Amino acid sequence: MASCPVAESEIEEEIKMGSYGGKVRVLRHDEESAAEETMLLWGMQQPTFSKPNSFVSHSSLQLNLDACGHCLSILQSPSSLGTPGVTGSVMWDSGVVLGKFLEHAVDSGLLLLHGKKVIELGSGCGLVGCIAALLGAEVTLTDLPDRLRLLKKNIETNLRHGNVRGSAVVKELVWGDDPDQDLIDPFPDYVLGSDVVYSEGAVVDLLDTLVQLCGAQTTIFLAGELRNDAVLEYFFDAAMKEFIVGRVEQTQWHPDYCSPRVAMYVLVKKRIGEILSD
Ligand SMILES: C[S@@+](CC[C@H](N)C(=O)[O-])C[C@H]1O[C@@H](n2cnc3c(N)ncnc32)[C@H](O)[C@@H]1O
Repeated sequence: MASCPVAESEIEEEIKMGSYGGKVRVLRHDEESAAEETMLLWGMQQPTFSKPNSFVSHSSLQLNLDACGHCLSILQSPSSLGTPGVTGSVMWDSGVVLGKFLEHAVDSGLLLLHGKKVIELGSGCGLVGCIAALLGAEVTLTDLPDRLRLLKKNIETNLRHGNVRGSAVVKELVWGDDPDQDLIDPFPDYVLGSDVVYSEGAVVDLLDTLVQLCGAQTTIFLAGELRNDAVLEYFFDAAMKEFIVGRVEQTQWHPDYCSPRVAMYVLVKKRIGEILSD
């Protein structure tokens, strides 16, 4: 794939970014663009008028989903959701949307995951990383240290048959901490995250980790829930200092897994010159 993340002067146009073959709408790099993007999302998608949790149930002990020719059964711990600070004990819609998007993009020839190094951040119950491994990627699923038990169980349950094309390992990674050397040497081809932008407090650490994990050839996919416009605007504002950000339109998602309450973005690291010229 070409190393050029985006062609300059094509801001506002739909272009290809990183290793994703689909065209995305690149966010302009100026002071207003974070607020504009957030207003546009809420205006276009009207998230508050549609039902949350279309593809998941937070009271069920497991989520069943067909993906990549497998019937995945992702265990959840609904009772842990009441513990302050615990969010990954159940699945969120944006995880289902991102996982099915990856499958659809690979099937459509827009994305190649086979043999690629992939790191998932804030994996929670692990659906997205499982799907990436089924699509042939060498995946490291990461989360906070006390969140890894359920994650490991889901990987063992769903990827134990000999017919997984890639591989999956689980590892602790706290945003803002220095990542282990094996995560960044070599840099991953892809970094994935679903519903990882949900509080202003976590944004700085999350971006710090994204900056540390990404090399010039790394492509990031983030899917998020449209719950809080202030948090999302804060994220865009901070992210655009280090990354070029492009919106993946719903027309490119898996047709059965679209939601007006979810948005998806591709990010690639800016080059030094691009940072200095901002
Ligand atoms: C809303 S959940 C999303 C889980 C999953 N990606 C999904 O879509 O279902 C956010 C995830 O980020 C993880 N997380 C939150 N803060 C973190 C931090 N500082 N370092 C690492 N992971 C964190 C949580 O443990 C949780 O698994």
